[in-house]
Amino acid sequence: MKILITGGAGYIGSHICVELLQEGFEIVVADNFSNSHPEALDRVQKITGKYFPVYNCDLTIKSELELVFSEQSINAVIHLAGLKAVGESVTVPLKYYQNNLISTLNLCEVMNTYNVCSLVFSSSATVYGANENAPLTEELPLQATNPYGRTKLMAEEILKDLQASNEKWSISILRYFNPVGAHSSGLIGEDPNGMPNNLVPYISQVAIGKLQEVKIFGNDYHTHDGTGIRDYIHVVDLAQGHVKALQKTLAAHGVHCYNLGTGNGFSVLEVVSQFQEVAKKQIPFSITERRKGDIAVSFADPAKAEIELKWKASKSLKEMLEDTWRWQVNNPQGYKYPVKTIHS
Ligand code: WQD
Repeated sequence: MKILITGGAGYIGSHICVELLQEGFEIVVADNFSNSHPEALDRVQKITGKYFPVYNCDLTIKSELELVFSEQSINAVIHLAGLKAVGESVTVPLKYYQNNLISTLNLCEVMNTYNVCSLVFSSSATVYGANENAPLTEELPLQATNPYGRTKLMAEEILKDLQASNEKWSISILRYFNPVGAHSSGLIGEDPNGMPNNLVPYISQVAIGKLQEVKIFGNDYHTHDGTGIRDYIHVVDLAQGHVKALQKTLAAHGVHCYNLGTGNGFSVLEVVSQFQEVAKKQIPFSITERRKGDIAVSFADPAKAEIELKWKASKSLKEMLEDTWRWQVNNPQGYKYPVKTIHS
């Protein structure tokens, strides 16, 4: 079974590559490296001892995608490639609509041409919008509140219409909550371009001394300590959820949505406190204004994935942050330099 992973060199994609290879799948990676590094794939090969073809491919250029399908006999696709910064999407919405929608449309068209009809799509809990009814189930009304989230919502609708048009399609839509952590080897992890937008990589860079202090976006939410609550999920748990979803997609038909979360929520202050314990460092922080668009509480009801995919996230917040810290300490410059030695 040969699986194409679009965006496979990215943070989540590289972890999915490892899990697929270790599950016995053959893989092909297509990535334009706009927000990832080829070094990540070298390290996937180092972790797994397995080789796989890599295409420098811009999915918005259909001919580049057709080359991959013409050279590789693909059985299914895991589609992760896309721009994903919420804040940036507000300032350059056309770039997000162009990139995220055209790439998905091109992929579906080329898959159809080559009669490849099994697709796992990377969506996001952001499609639930400002819904404060956590735990969030897949049946809730969808209401994206930013261009990035709308590209995910639109892509979901495109895929549902595609499957409704021809029952040969089998599609799983996976709504990620907050992926954090890194592979236990310390070889692959999150390597944000520039200033991290997300909490955990930001804390990690403060702990290593790259950034001065954590800015906590508001402590006046209606939560136990006033700070925002989120469902942090270990990226390896998330990757294993993709393997389960792929196996179901290959075996079934139809279109199915699944929340990939733990069902537990932690506040910003709880994450900072846990990180201090893990890194054995004081993490300086200050309370600032709320960030526009943030909601107070978001965490998953993961029951549907547990039942239908026989998948359940197992790693604790402590493990997530220990693995984050190991990656940070061993790769202070991310993928910029080849890894030397790993200190556990
Ligand atoms: C988590 C909490 C912030 C940074 C985003 C996207 C979502 C998905 C995951 C793509 C919140 C607080 C954060 C900081 C802070 N990405 N925070 N200081 O916003 O839940 O989700 O990433 O699919 O689409 O929206 O994650 O890590 O940015 O924020 O206080 O410097 O940490 O207010 O409560 P978020 P986050």
